[in-house]
Amino acid sequence: MLIRQKDELPSSEITPERLYYNRREFIRLAGSAGLGLVAQAVLPEQLAAQERWPKGRKGPFDTDDEVNTYKEITTYNNFYEFGTDKSDPASNAGRFNPKPWTIRIEGEIKKPATYNLEDFIKTSKFEDRIYRMRCVEGWSMVIPWRGFPLADLVNKVEPTSKAKFVAFETVYRPEEMPGQKRPFLRWPYVEGLRVDEAMNPLTLLATGLYGKDLPNQNGAPLRLVIPWKYGFKGIKSIVKIRFVEKEPPTSWNLAAPDEYGFYSNVNPNVDHPRWSQKTERRLGEFFKRKTLMFNGYSDQVAHLYSGMDLMKNY
Ligand code: MTE
Repeated sequence: MLIRQKDELPSSEITPERLYYNRREFIRLAGSAGLGLVAQAVLPEQLAAQERWPKGRKGPFDTDDEVNTYKEITTYNNFYEFGTDKSDPASNAGRFNPKPWTIRIEGEIKKPATYNLEDFIKTSKFEDRIYRMRCVEGWSMVIPWRGFPLADLVNKVEPTSKAKFVAFETVYRPEEMPGQKRPFLRWPYVEGLRVDEAMNPLTLLATGLYGKDLPNQNGAPLRLVIPWKYGFKGIKSIVKIRFVEKEPPTSWNLAAPDEYGFYSNVNPNVDHPRWSQKTERRLGEFFKRKTLMFNGYSDQVAHLYSGMDLMKNY
């Protein structure tokens, strides 16, 4: 972001589903190439090299782009509470304890509540969804998230007619989050959405990725995932959700209003003041690719912004 700035998955922990999928796929490919027994002999190395969540559309929201590896997703992060370097969150988040966890939901709603996350999880339906994610600095990843639509929560708490926006807040624990002892940003980290953006079926509250609980560096135990917006809208380790009448402040807009707006929709036609947003580098790839409007999710979200000047509402 503005300031320039190990959790590895052992092979033994690859989920059975992935192992099964990779083994089946490998045997199918090897079989169709007439490799037979030779292929079976090299299978373990092949599996290690393909340590990936299976690519391919299962649900209506999935992309069929190649999925990034668990290692890429969990060692190249932005989470300034643990430092400003991409490797800092994986190195410094070990002391953070996300269990137990409570989230306060309040403001313009009929049913304010404090949920214990573990109890809440027991009564909610979770889905795996493969989303393209695009960061404002020009890199992107494809991540198999586990979560539930934010709309499910919004429907439970019944917003009043005054609720126009949703404000989110990250936990403040400087003893566990060393970055919060330094003024990289104003703490706690805050973010916001319009209520209709929050209700869009693509907007997830994620509790996991790669079929496992979220690692600390990725925002344990609960974070926002909004695939058509730049990554900084995806606030991590959320403790408070407040429904409000007026557009709430957001951390990066407070830090640099000319560079980071409230909407922050992925838009190849609106440059960041210091760099172009036309292309992106998918982690693990050499050549850049063209950035897609709304990160490729126009069909699902373009209607939210009809009539708005996206040059001004960046
Ligand atoms: N949330 C908090 N609390 N603190 C942060 O520094 N960084 C944001 C976002 N959420 C950030 C945060 C930015 S800039 C990005 S790009 C994404 O998290 C990165 O998510 P990832 O590291 O899981 O890919």
